[in-house]
Amino acid sequence: MASSLLNGAINPTLTRGIAQTPNGLGFLGSDFNGKHFPKLNSVSCVKISRTHKSKTIVSPNCSASASRPASQPRFIQHKKEAFWFYRFLSIVYDHVINPGHWTEDMRDDALEPAELNNRNLTVVDVGGGTGFTTLGIVKHVDAKNVTILDQSPHQLAKAKKKEPLKECKIIEGDAEDLPFKTDYADRYVSAGSIEYWPDPQRGIREAYRVLRLGGKACVIGPVYPTFWLSRFFADAWMLFPKEEEYIEWFEKAGFKDVQLKRIGPKWYRGVRRHGLIMGCSVTGVKPASGDSPLQLGPKVEDVSEPVNPFVFLSRLILGAMAATYYVLVPIYMWIKDQIVPKGQPI
Ligand SMILES: C[S@@+](CC[C@H](N)C(=O)[O-])C[C@H]1O[C@@H](n2cnc3c(N)ncnc32)[C@H](O)[C@@H]1O
Repeated sequence: MASSLLNGAINPTLTRGIAQTPNGLGFLGSDFNGKHFPKLNSVSCVKISRTHKSKTIVSPNCSASASRPASQPRFIQHKKEAFWFYRFLSIVYDHVINPGHWTEDMRDDALEPAELNNRNLTVVDVGGGTGFTTLGIVKHVDAKNVTILDQSPHQLAKAKKKEPLKECKIIEGDAEDLPFKTDYADRYVSAGSIEYWPDPQRGIREAYRVLRLGGKACVIGPVYPTFWLSRFFADAWMLFPKEEEYIEWFEKAGFKDVQLKRIGPKWYRGVRRHGLIMGCSVTGVKPASGDSPLQLGPKVEDVSEPVNPFVFLSRLILGAMAATYYVLVPIYMWIKDQIVPKGQPI
């Protein structure tokens, strides 16, 4: 597994001086390889080190949590655009997208920290789409205890057709505003969806709210590239969070014992410079029942607001074009894997 090449789970300690700005948190830090991220906001500082203890963080209140400057357009990091993107992508999603980015062994590796260790657990799979990740969940948990939620009826239609998911509850809904009562589930899983949420902090706050005391959230998602061309296309397409950002979001929502496990397709041989659409599995445990201590203001995107159809279509097309780059990257990496002798870096 790629993750085992990367020393498995990382339990980060964040040492910080955080100040809240109207645009939320920025980072001045380094990735786990020691490469420096660009300074996004001069008033915040995050440093991550590998330790075995997790530090207690006092969660500040904030009213907005968008984490990147507007200069990175992320044409499809919006609910309306994601809806139409998946209107078409759902047709080929399982057969064309997943084999390059999200394989069955990656899925099992990524779900392992979720500790799906009892068939009676109540599980919600948020942004569950065609049910690819849910198929991994129902190996360990009875399907009748699993709810798949997604904003795309087209994706869900594919999930409904899968025999092992016949007993799952399948509902349309928004990850940032979940239709579950507080303290409802034992496990919250979300794979490959956070990148489309306009306000990821809000989605992770919702994960906290719907879990029971001692429940575990597992968010699987992209990681940000370091190679310039990949960064360009990533920023044009959607949100590729940095590893620090996931941890920050989890801890601000109130989670404890936050862990990040790196994942990736086998044929990448651990390469992460192009970013990964499924690059990490982040888990956290809910330490107290009830709502998250984090207070947020109104939602960033109001889906009921009318949009300019020309601007909307242009964003959708540009975003889809940028996404095409990420269809090609796994093919390029696969060719390199075939050519470069085993054991050598690619
Ligand atoms: C890359 S697919 C992942 C599907 C599935 N989890 C898997 O592992 O294959 C992303 C899914 O997130 C859904 N999505 C995007 N934004 C959402 C939101 N705000 N609320 C719920 N689902 C959302 C999309 O409709 C899409 O089905």
